[in-house]
Amino acid sequence: MKKTLSVVLGLSLMLVTLFGMTALADDEIVIGFSMDNLRLERWQHDRDIFVKRAEELGAKVLVQSANSDDMLQVSQAENLITQGVDVLVVLPHNGKIMGSIVEEAHKNGVPVLAYDRLLMDCDLDYYISFDNVRVGELQAQYLVDKKPEGNYFLLGGSPTDNNAKLFRQGQMNVLQPYIDEGKIKIVGDQWAKDWLPQEAMKIIENALTANNNNIDVVVASNDSTAGGTIQALADQNLDGKVLVSGQDADLAACQRIVEGTQTMTVYKPIHLLATRAAEVAVAMAKGEEIDTEGKTVNNGKIDVPSILLTPIQVDKENMVDTVIADGFHTMEEVYKNVPKDEWPKQ
Ligand code: GAL
Repeated sequence: MKKTLSVVLGLSLMLVTLFGMTALADDEIVIGFSMDNLRLERWQHDRDIFVKRAEELGAKVLVQSANSDDMLQVSQAENLITQGVDVLVVLPHNGKIMGSIVEEAHKNGVPVLAYDRLLMDCDLDYYISFDNVRVGELQAQYLVDKKPEGNYFLLGGSPTDNNAKLFRQGQMNVLQPYIDEGKIKIVGDQWAKDWLPQEAMKIIENALTANNNNIDVVVASNDSTAGGTIQALADQNLDGKVLVSGQDADLAACQRIVEGTQTMTVYKPIHLLATRAAEVAVAMAKGEEIDTEGKTVNNGKIDVPSILLTPIQVDKENMVDTVIADGFHTMEEVYKNVPKDEWPKQ
């Protein structure tokens, strides 16, 4: 009996250990984080800061990057739900396609948080981002303050990204009166697939040819497309002569700004977004109510309770007091290509 008992005990211990390793431990909070991609610099920051804060709160995070492949992102999110995550956080490549995952999650008792980009046409639980219409307004306002008249090219972001539409909405809030008065002429309007720099470069090369290089401003919606724009301008010796906006305060963009080829960027303190999102995700996993101060964003189906953080306009003048002061990049990184005696005094 004893021998049998020890064999049975040994076997059951092995089974429990084995089972314990494959299924998620019941007591620990597990967050599933489904991300469009980790190709762009900023999403690597978002992931690292989110995971760090979630782990500080005692949660485990399972991150999946879909490399901007919609079908892959859907199956990865379904897999996270099957694995038994307590909450699903989604940075969608396509907000409409990924909206379908919310119903699936809810069937399994899993609440969903849309991260930085909205999930459309679904009963989404919460949305956290920056005020993206305000991002577009900051971009356009900076440009018209510098250049209230001239030929403007509108370079939109990824057509699958709802944020790209919000940036454009904000840009037009500022530009439309100048267009109506005939001060600003829109000489082109295209959208860069997946925010890819090479897409932006192609678009601007063609735009310069079509307009005999008579473009005064490119309203680029983020830094990766601003980078592609400036490459195309440089081929025509126009870099630094044509105003170019951006967003994300990517390191390469901050370098271009202090070197004079990019005009400005919009800095969105990712540590604020990612830490707050991790805190919200843990609270959702515990079934706690989230105070969004009554703020909502409509996603085509419902008014989603939303947390919208404040974006910051950055140029050469306030780079030190914002991006560098926050430790998002160091002075040495940003001014790498600038002679040391020309660095701002700190
Ligand atoms: C947007 C995001 C921007 C920029 C862009 C490129 O959704 O809000 O900050 O990163 O994607 O990925």
